[in-house]
Amino acid sequence: MSATQEISTTSPIGRDTPRVDGPMKVTGKAQYTSDFHFPGTLYAVPVEATIANGRVVKLDTDAAEGMPGVRAIFNRENIGKIFRSTLGQGIEGICEERRPPFDDDLVRYYGQYVALAVADTFEAAKAAADAVRATYDKEMPNVETHLEAEDDPDSVATTFGMRNRLDSQRGDADAAFASAPVKLDQTYVTPAETHNPLELHATTAIWDGSTLTLYESSQGVVNLRGVLAQMFDLPKENVRVISKFVGSGFGSKLFPWTHCALAAAAARQLGKPVKLVLSRKMMFQTVGHRPRTQQRVRLGATSDGKLVSLQHDYIYHRSMLDGHHEDCGEATPFQYSVPNLRVTFGRARRNVGAAADMRGPGAVPGLYATESAMNELADRLNIDPVKLRVINEPKIDEGLGLPFSSRHLVECFELGAEKFGWSRRTSDVGSMKRDGLILGWGMAGCAWIAARFPAAASVELRDDGTVRVACATQDIGTGTYTNLAQLASHKTGVSLDKVEVALGDTSLPEGPLSGGSMATPSIVPAVLQAADNAIASLLSIAATTPGSPFENRKRDDLAFEDGRVIVKAGGSAAGVAFADLLRGANLRLVTGNGKSEATFGNPKPKFSTHSFGAHFVEVTWQPEIARLRVSRVVTVIDAGRILNPLAGRNQIEGAVVMGIGMALLEHTSYDPQNGAPINGNLADYVVAVNADAPPIEVYFLDYPDKEINEVGARGIGEIGLAGVAAAITAAVHHATGVRVRELPVKIENLLA
Ligand code: MOS
Repeated sequence: MSATQEISTTSPIGRDTPRVDGPMKVTGKAQYTSDFHFPGTLYAVPVEATIANGRVVKLDTDAAEGMPGVRAIFNRENIGKIFRSTLGQGIEGICEERRPPFDDDLVRYYGQYVALAVADTFEAAKAAADAVRATYDKEMPNVETHLEAEDDPDSVATTFGMRNRLDSQRGDADAAFASAPVKLDQTYVTPAETHNPLELHATTAIWDGSTLTLYESSQGVVNLRGVLAQMFDLPKENVRVISKFVGSGFGSKLFPWTHCALAAAAARQLGKPVKLVLSRKMMFQTVGHRPRTQQRVRLGATSDGKLVSLQHDYIYHRSMLDGHHEDCGEATPFQYSVPNLRVTFGRARRNVGAAADMRGPGAVPGLYATESAMNELADRLNIDPVKLRVINEPKIDEGLGLPFSSRHLVECFELGAEKFGWSRRTSDVGSMKRDGLILGWGMAGCAWIAARFPAAASVELRDDGTVRVACATQDIGTGTYTNLAQLASHKTGVSLDKVEVALGDTSLPEGPLSGGSMATPSIVPAVLQAADNAIASLLSIAATTPGSPFENRKRDDLAFEDGRVIVKAGGSAAGVAFADLLRGANLRLVTGNGKSEATFGNPKPKFSTHSFGAHFVEVTWQPEIARLRVSRVVTVIDAGRILNPLAGRNQIEGAVVMGIGMALLEHTSYDPQNGAPINGNLADYVVAVNADAPPIEVYFLDYPDKEINEVGARGIGEIGLAGVAAAITAAVHHATGVRVRELPVKIENLLA
């Protein structure tokens, strides 16, 4: 399956590579944000609004202020100035909730912070926060689940800038739908979902004069630094953000939230380090969620299955003040060939916290809807759902009118069908059985954007034979430490155990967000260039340093191979290890810097760059006891060259498990009386766990995508979640005959 590659036999790229940071994690040496302790640290606990719509008329802090160990109760009178931040150029100044904390007396969602208790211990701060009495002017919140698009203009402001509500259009979708021999018109609903990374959001803020250091569990330290610099009117170089280990984020830690600013402002007022760790309940209120979506999909087709019209009109909810855009139509214009298409969106305000990116934002709910519609169309036409997709495979991206950089979706379907045994499927509902269980088989395709953020990195070759690679990106548990080490090892020939990786610190060269599945593709060119530059410096030193074994050679006669400087004409055998050369020249190290540009947001791309995949799912159904299980999954992913297949398979397996949660378990419910996320805890918000995870087979096609970077590596953090829910609901229909179009599938749906 593997295409040609020019990667040496000693390179760790493309090899199963255990996490280089694994030993630190399992021995407890890895320090997560709240593990850092500083002398004199104070603890902050926010006071959460208990209404979702209204005004704070009185804040009684007397009792709280008098409690032992309490240093301050902050509110808008005494927190000090916090400026509003604004979007910058490119990936800069991004923030999902723009309103600075305590900016006015209005409460627009349940749990909004209205005060902050700071004390010598966490327990004292919590007791004080609980003792603050807020009096409200309260109105009924709007958390209505049915969504009607509001009267927005054609172009609206979103978190990332302006967006046209007409996402994409070609041909005449209405006319083609009206005259289509076969029509499907259905609405699919996905609920609000809440990110539940194991590690809670946490901040420790420390001021030293006019410099601010923030330890934060972050997926984007560089952006966070820029936003904080704006909020506290500091030059960027006076702000340092550190995030060494992150217990996952799923998108909720991409951009700053109000607790960061509160911790920093409290630390400024008190002149001491302040630590603020969110509760699990707060995680449901103030740090984002995937918004509810309601998506109408209309498909028109010929009787032999050729699509003639596709309309995708989606509505999502948003908070009262913010414009997170849930881009459900991201994959719609290119996934299938169809001459007539229209994709539009609308928005509906609700009294909820700001929505945010959650693993596969936009395309994941979007593909649930469009892939479900494809499965329903296949059943209506009595065509195999794999075949329906192959019939409609496009030659180019018909939305952009551009060729794909690398698309092997049909091969994903074919390989997945073969590994799953799809040809044994009988299409009648309830027709397949095993061990007394009814089987349901379903499938779906998927896609996710592939692009790069801007990135810089440095590589050092050192006199003890070690290499250091540095980049201000983050490892959110996905394997970025290992990827950086692999890339440095690949270029320098130094084994992985001799590579030191530095990341998660804005004092390093500016690296990418750990988001959009773009960290890996972004760091590749920057690190490889940095290593090349370090090697170039080394060769110059070799040729020019008095006493060097290569003193009489020209720089161009020398080459670097497997950690050694050699004379090109002399072949690989001889040579001098770089550590010996550096020691001979009395140099501790040589450094190379590398930098690469963004492709994300390029207004004039030459190719459509995406990853693709296919999921094949089996469910078992026991109607006697209403027991539904996902029993088997085969997933095939076309994501370019996989740097680390071991970690890569883990990524896809984790995404598939999250897809089981999306299809069958996860939903955030808002109480219509007070607007509270009513199931805001891990007992009532049910996520898929090990017991829900079936055997999952993951295959990578491994076609390098040289448009994305020279190694051909696209990202894989999100693609594995896309499409899973559509495959599961199709399998549920195949087993039970019930078509569920509002996630998650509930047992009561199947008893109807
Ligand atoms: Mo992902 S939602 O870009 O962390």
